[in-house]
Amino acid sequence: MSDAARFWDRIAERYAKRPVADQGAYQEKLRITQSYLRPDMAVLEFGCGTGSTALLHAPFVKHVRAMDISPRMIEIAKRKADAAKIANVTFECKAVEELDAPAESFDAVLGLSILHLLDDWRGTISKARQMLKPGGVFVTSTMCLGDSMKFLRLIAPIGKLFGLLPTLSFFTTSELKESLRSAGFDIAHEWRPGKNRAVFIVARKSSQLWQADRS
Ligand SMILES: C[S@@+](CC[C@H](N)C(=O)[O-])C[C@H]1O[C@@H](n2cnc3c(N)ncnc32)[C@H](O)[C@@H]1O
Repeated sequence: MSDAARFWDRIAERYAKRPVADQGAYQEKLRITQSYLRPDMAVLEFGCGTGSTALLHAPFVKHVRAMDISPRMIEIAKRKADAAKIANVTFECKAVEELDAPAESFDAVLGLSILHLLDDWRGTISKARQMLKPGGVFVTSTMCLGDSMKFLRLIAPIGKLFGLLPTLSFFTTSELKESLRSAGFDIAHEWRPGKNRAVFIVARKSSQLWQADRS
């Protein structure tokens, strides 16, 4: 098992019991996301945690494929799906780096509170684009630790060494948006509930690049 899987496995039960910190902001993100969803859509969520968000979006789409690196997170997610009798979400234990989905197979890809936890967050953005159908949307809510968390940057390697912190990537909001644009996305919606909070972005697979892909 990878260090990341071990870290998240260890805190999975606590994570599941922890109430959402800002219900208002969470509900607004659900609402914005659902305004882009349609009943015939295939959705992928990577880093789905204990599955709450995937299960809330499930009634609005055809199918959600949700995955997470932590077996315990997935165990809890499956229990929740059974309890809620939701049958159109498939949970699987998989790292996003190992995900091998066919090109253009999803209408929407969700990566919520996860990009800043990945070493190769830029590669993951490109992968999301590749898996999206033309005009599909990538929805992300991301802490941009490079904007303000200078102290955390100093202590992150020590915290990781002692298993107290997960992998953290320090990018700014500008770097995130620039990476989305250069990977071939147009930013359709951007919202931040407050200063130093995660930025919520809906990015649409840009028409120009997908036309270029085909030429
Ligand atoms: C902060 S939690 C967010 C969970 C959920 N998306 C949410 O918004 O509540 C980060 C999740 O990403 C998962 N994760 C971390 N690294 C991952 C990777 N490389 N591939 C897939 N999942 C990963 C962790 O196991 C954890 O469940």
